[in-house]
Amino acid sequence: MKKTKITLAVIVTIMMALVLTACAEAQTPVPTPEPVAEATPEPTPEPELTPEPEQEPAPESEPEPETTDTLIPEESQMTATLVIENSQYTYELPPPQVDGNTSVEKALVQRRSRRDFQDKALSSQKLSQILWAAYGVSSPSGLRTAPSAGALYPLEIYAVVGNVEGIEPGVYRYIPDEHKIVRLVDRDIRNELSEAALGQSMVADAPVTLVFSAVYERTTSRYGERGFSYVHMEVGHSAQNVYLQAEALGLGTCAIGAYYVDDVKLLLDLPENEEPLYLMPLGYYND
Ligand SMILES: Cc1cc2nc3c(=O)[nH]c(=O)nc-3n(C[C@H](O)[C@H](O)[C@H](O)COP(=O)(O)O)c2cc1C
Repeated sequence: MKKTKITLAVIVTIMMALVLTACAEAQTPVPTPEPVAEATPEPTPEPELTPEPEQEPAPESEPEPETTDTLIPEESQMTATLVIENSQYTYELPPPQVDGNTSVEKALVQRRSRRDFQDKALSSQKLSQILWAAYGVSSPSGLRTAPSAGALYPLEIYAVVGNVEGIEPGVYRYIPDEHKIVRLVDRDIRNELSEAALGQSMVADAPVTLVFSAVYERTTSRYGERGFSYVHMEVGHSAQNVYLQAEALGLGTCAIGAYYVDDVKLLLDLPENEEPLYLMPLGYYND
C-alpha cells in the first residue's frame, strides 16, 4: 500500500513538472517573423560633381595674317591702275574684299531701291567691289559670284562712269577674268543715258550706272528657246548681288527696266548681238 502511494506521488510530480514546463514554454514569445522589407526604391545617387574642365587659357591674340586678296584695310590706298594698251584705256581694279562687317541678313532687311543720289564721288575701290559682286570670278576654276546655266555666262556688264575717283568719265566694259575695265566711250554720257531711261534723273545724278546686257546665243546655242528664260533669270541673280553689295558698302542702287533699248544700245555702242536688260545707278543716297 505504501509503495503504491509513493508511485502515485512520483507520477503526480512528473506530471506537474511537465505541465509547468509546458506553461513556461507557452509564455515565451514566439519569435515573430522578420517583416519582409518593402522594396524601397534605391536612392538615386547624387550626380557626381565633376569638376569643370579647366579652361584653356585664351590664346594670345595672333597677329593678323598678311593677306593680299581678302581684307583691304585702307580703301583710300586702293585705287584703280591705269594701263594704256594700243591707245585703249584699261583700268586694273583693286582686288575685291571677300569679307565684311554686314551680314547677309542685315543687307537683306535694309535693301531698298534708292533713287535720290548725292553729288559725291565713288571710290574706285567701291566700284571694283560692286563689279565683282555683280559678275566677278570667285573660284580658281573661273566660276562667278552669280550662278549661270551651264556656266556659260551670257551677260556683259558696263560701267557708265561719271564721278569715280581715279577713273576718267566714259563707258567701260567689265572683264571679269582679269578684274579690269576697258574704255569704249571716252565721255560722260550720264545725261543722255538718263534721257534714254525715260528721263529718270537718278541716272544723271548717280556717279556711276551699271548696264547689264545679254549675248543670248551663249546660252540659247546649248539650251534653245529655254535659254532666253535662263538669261533673264541670270540678270536677276546678278542685279540682286549688286543690291546687296551696295547696301553692305553704304551705297544705294535701283533696278531700272524702263528705257529705250535702241537708244541705250547706241549710246553704249553695243555690238549688234547684245541686248541691254537692266540699268543700275549707284552712289551715296539721301534717305
Ligand atoms: C524688272 C524691274 C524693273 C524696274 N524698273 C524700274 C524703273 O524703271 N524705275 C524705277 O524707279 N524702279 C524700277 N524698279 C524698282 C521697283 O520699283 C522696286 O523694286 C519696287 O518698287 C520695290 O521696292 P524695293 O526695291 O525698294 O523693295 C524695277 C524693278 C524691277 C524688278
